Amino acid sequence: MHQNEIDVRREWLQNHCPELAVSTEPAVLQSHGRDWTRFREPRPAAVVFPEHVEQVVHLVRVAAEHGVPLVPSGGRTGLSGGAVAAAGEVVVSLDRLRRILDFDATDRTVTVEAGVVTAAVQAYAAERGLCYPVSFGAEGSSQIGGNIATNAGGLRVLRYGLTRDWVAGLSFVDGRGALLECNAGLVKNASGFDLRHLLIGSEGTLGIVVRAMLRLTDPPPPRAAMVLGLDRLDALMPVFRAAREALALSAFEFFSATALQRVCAHLGCAPPLAEACPFLVLLEFDNPDGEDGLSFAAAIYDRCVETGWVREGVIGESATQARALWRYREAIPESIAAATPYKNDLAVRISRVPDFLAALDGQVAAQYPELEVLWYGHIGDGNLHMNVLKPDGMALEAFEQACAAASRSIYALTRSFGGTISAEHGIGLLKQADLGYCRSAAEIEHMRGIKAVLDPAGIMNPGKLIAVG
Ligand code: MLT
Ligand code: ZN
Repeated sequence: MHQNEIDVRREWLQNHCPELAVSTEPAVLQSHGRDWTRFREPRPAAVVFPEHVEQVVHLVRVAAEHGVPLVPSGGRTGLSGGAVAAAGEVVVSLDRLRRILDFDATDRTVTVEAGVVTAAVQAYAAERGLCYPVSFGAEGSSQIGGNIATNAGGLRVLRYGLTRDWVAGLSFVDGRGALLECNAGLVKNASGFDLRHLLIGSEGTLGIVVRAMLRLTDPPPPRAAMVLGLDRLDALMPVFRAAREALALSAFEFFSATALQRVCAHLGCAPPLAEACPFLVLLEFDNPDGEDGLSFAAAIYDRCVETGWVREGVIGESATQARALWRYREAIPESIAAATPYKNDLAVRISRVPDFLAALDGQVAAQYPELEVLWYGHIGDGNLHMNVLKPDGMALEAFEQACAAASRSIYALTRSFGGTISAEHGIGLLKQADLGYCRSAAEIEHMRGIKAVLDPAGIMNPGKLIAVG
């Protein structure tokens, strides 16, 4: 988009939304025009900061009238370009809609505005003796509205499910500028389509989530963690099954030795195990009675070593020790960020993980002979992150093209296993062209139809998730 068109759009904003806080500062356009991805240069016309829901309603209404594209923006921690504004759009930041509105101890719900940070909800729940259990590395800056728009998953999906499972109600402004309140906290509501669930995971393409009522639960019991070193990929699922039979697992995470090396280099710390094993798992389990949980874990460990599945392991009994072990897994994304990773976020049914991994392993070696590939993921959910790192001297565009081309055969393989090309990172801008690998033509057609109803002017996050037109 040319600079003069951008100027026209800024003027339009001033004329039609004079009450709205607007920034056209280059640094703000840069920071709020993108998420954590680095494959597109941000180029929004402006960033607006509504402070009240009514301002969002008004903005969307006039934007729909005049065909002005809007990009909803939360904590901008997304990994698929869902919050990237690269074509002169107006970014709608939810940063200033950050009030905690209500808490109900009987319903066990908290109602928040969309811009409230995930960790703030967790802390608020903890202060009231409860827990908001959706947890992931970006929780210190991700916002509830963005979590809902992407149906964020994270580290304990195995135990607690996804964001979807914790949304008791939500309010959103659709693409016409109407405010809709969906399922205000009802546990049971058999009265037709549940628009709440349509909005969850819609990546800002149907409307802007402005408020949510979240369910809370009991705080978790004391937990311990264990890191195990494996020699072979095919030992992963036997270890998972053995652990799940004996322990109340809350997480079962996987990472490769190459990912661990990056973490150790980044944090300047020693690895958790004395021996270098090519694959590692981190498992977290309830340990309410101290000794009992630990002796079960020790028994599992012995069995896994005897069968040859596991070479070595370490247990973190106290909360501090467990936290230290988690750090090896949680710090992977930040440790590789400088290498501009191309992220694949694949998932198959848990039962299909072993065969999928074996097939994928062969394919990756053939597809990326010269590129460094790191593996990690939430293997207990069937979700594998495959990160390809950009070599220092390689141009970004050439790197993206090489990865995108190689990804297609990986996606075809994923499809043959009945899997998805995005388990938790969303489709956004980067995977939009590949949606057909995990959704049928009929499904995509229905998605387009639904979008046309909720966003007839096509102004809500255009170009993301589904191509329209
Ligand atoms: C993770 O599992 O750490 C997150 O999905 C982030 C990432 O994959 O980079
Ligand atoms: Zn993840």
